[in-house]
Amino acid sequence: MTTTNTTTDVEWEPHAQRLADELAAAGKLTDPRLVDAVRAVPRHAFVPTYHQQTSDGSWAQRASVDDLAAVYANTALITALAPTATGGTTVLSSSTQPGLMTRMIEALHLTDGSRVLEVGTGTGYNAGLLAHRLGDEQVYSVDVEADLVELARQRLAGLGYHPTLVACDGAAGLPEHAPFDAIIATCAVPAIPRAWVEQVRPGGVILTDLKPAPGAGSLVRLTRTAENRAEGRFDATYAAFMDLRHTPGDNPAGFRVERDHDQAEHRTTSLDPNTPWNSLLVWFLASFELGAEIAYGYTLPEGGAIPAYSGTPPTASWIATPDGSWAEIALATHDGQHEVAEGGPRRLWRFVEQAHRTWNDLGRPGWDSFGLTVTPDTHTVWFDQHTWRLAPR
Ligand SMILES: C[S@@+](CC[C@H](N)C(=O)[O-])C[C@H]1O[C@@H](n2cnc3c(N)ncnc32)[C@H](O)[C@@H]1O
Repeated sequence: MTTTNTTTDVEWEPHAQRLADELAAAGKLTDPRLVDAVRAVPRHAFVPTYHQQTSDGSWAQRASVDDLAAVYANTALITALAPTATGGTTVLSSSTQPGLMTRMIEALHLTDGSRVLEVGTGTGYNAGLLAHRLGDEQVYSVDVEADLVELARQRLAGLGYHPTLVACDGAAGLPEHAPFDAIIATCAVPAIPRAWVEQVRPGGVILTDLKPAPGAGSLVRLTRTAENRAEGRFDATYAAFMDLRHTPGDNPAGFRVERDHDQAEHRTTSLDPNTPWNSLLVWFLASFELGAEIAYGYTLPEGGAIPAYSGTPPTASWIATPDGSWAEIALATHDGQHEVAEGGPRRLWRFVEQAHRTWNDLGRPGWDSFGLTVTPDTHTVWFDQHTWRLAPR
């Protein structure tokens, strides 16, 4: 494996400076030591190429040096793809949006000497920012993909950074180097791993995207408050990271539920069929009843199904659970009503409607009004006096 030292070949510094200015102006970067890091760490050295989806759905590879402005923009860049069992393509790794990264690093409330574990090394760019801010000795970063770790190691070393990098399943933390002052995950977990609560020092911080069900959850900042307990609030701004995989290259198997409209119950709903995508707190609350395994997507005119809006206007949205329950909601409205078909043992859209009523009754709160308490056996979401016990995957 070889790396090219692209940092000396191109004039990237003005781009890094502009990115730092942009993030500072947007309030996503305030710590002067982190401002220095954004100016000093060349993102294009960690992302020499990236993948972009074209209008026909295929992927094209771009060279970063051809458009440095794009690489120093506040956008996520897809850096590793893998084929799926069904002939599609899945994203294995990406370089997170820089502004999200700096906001997350600042939320750790680091001081000189803080020891940080990052779960999800990816390109190594974030580990570079952390190493610049804290020093090599203080930074540990792990990724389940050994080849990504090796590339990140070479790129970091080429720039003079030598944090501790390990290829392993980050769900187990890094016990040999614990305790940490902070654990930051740049992948989404279905439940807070017990190892993280054990490996962060009392008073230390865990910051991760918690998604107990697909698409349902967001960034949560927890403090270890007791031996076996961590608690804190969700971040005000919704965030979505790729799911943590326990083995390299792993794709979720998924499940299929046939939607037989002849056997279904039919009714109408006034609730927006796009709710799983555009009302993410309602979807989160609904997931407590729907369960940890949910499939959902859009129905195309010819009957095909896709997980997200693709440009071809769909006719309906659908959700399904492994017990064979399903609901399909027409996108068209008649007098503000959408047709609903529901089959299987449970009426799934009723759960979404109930979650919407609950959210309205609570006064339509934002993410940061909700908190989470984690103990070895429980995950409890809370809002004022209300609590919901999660049954995470
Ligand atoms: C959004 S990317 C990380 C971006 C990275 N922080 C950067 O600066 O480029 C998420 C990463 O999490 C990794 N990942 C997924 N499951 C993991 C696991 N169980 N342990 C460690 N890393 C994991 C993926 O391989 C992927 O590289």
